[in-house]
Amino acid sequence: MTIYNDLKDKHVLVTGAARGIGYAQVQSFLQQGAKVTGLDLQQSHLKHENYTFVQIDLRDVTALTEFLNQSTFDIVCNTAGILDDFKNIAETSYTEFTDLLKVNLDAMFIITKQLVDKKQPIVFVNMSSYAGLFASGGGVSYTTSKHAINGLTKEIAFEYGKFGVRANAIAPCLVKTEMAQADFETGLNVKLAQETVFNRYAEPAEIADLTLFLASDSSKYITGQIINIDGGYSLGKSIEL
Ligand SMILES: NC(=O)c1ccc[n+]([C@@H]2O[C@H](COP(=O)([O-])OP(=O)(O)OC[C@H]3O[C@@H](n4cnc5c(N)ncnc54)[C@H](O)[C@@H]3O)[C@@H](O)[C@H]2O)c1
Repeated sequence: MTIYNDLKDKHVLVTGAARGIGYAQVQSFLQQGAKVTGLDLQQSHLKHENYTFVQIDLRDVTALTEFLNQSTFDIVCNTAGILDDFKNIAETSYTEFTDLLKVNLDAMFIITKQLVDKKQPIVFVNMSSYAGLFASGGGVSYTTSKHAINGLTKEIAFEYGKFGVRANAIAPCLVKTEMAQADFETGLNVKLAQETVFNRYAEPAEIADLTLFLASDSSKYITGQIINIDGGYSLGKSIEL
């Protein structure tokens, strides 16, 4: 594991911390000696002297705002997200659309707004997706939310760089987590894996490795970028001749 000395003692917030990519990010920051706060809807069983957990539903704007009022962070990983079962617009009600946006996008807006208002250095690592760059990685709600996250990330990087704020987003394709469980059950994972150049899916720890780099001073001249981590999935499709 690469050690980033500047991450030691940094205060880090990770949303979606109870499992999957968020959980891997929490563990990675703890290994760097950071002080980590995890936020999730579900309970977390992780115990560590440098770990604090808060159980909040990101759709609860009052609870989220109260929590942010009492906190300061150097690094924020906006990782929590939900899927839309690949539903197209005809299959999606307006309520389903706005419910998904509340979790994937609105909460990120609320967290970001409250923290950048302080006009102090802070690093954001936002969780986008392959679906933030291309159609077909999700349904209409998920794809819209992930494209919007890229816009939010770029706008914050552009407007607040002068205050020492950096914001980047990570765009994974298929990562082996509970969110992707359905893909692993249907065999879609095998098909997707075959369309990467490495013939495999990503592990959550690989997304966490990229997160550490983007959160650390090693990437201090990188901002407003959407970093694709998809094993070459988006490079193109093989043509059968
Ligand atoms: N797994 C993948 O293949 C993949 C690919 C691309 C992008 N992503 C993105 O990575 C992020 C993490 O995905 P994952 O695979 O770890 O998913 P996951 O479902 O395994 O974990 C997501 C976590 O977010 C939490 N969460 C969901 N709604 C919440 C809410 N309202 N309030 C608070 N917490 C809430 C869940 O409880 C869960 O612990 C998501 O934003 C997802 O869109 C995942």
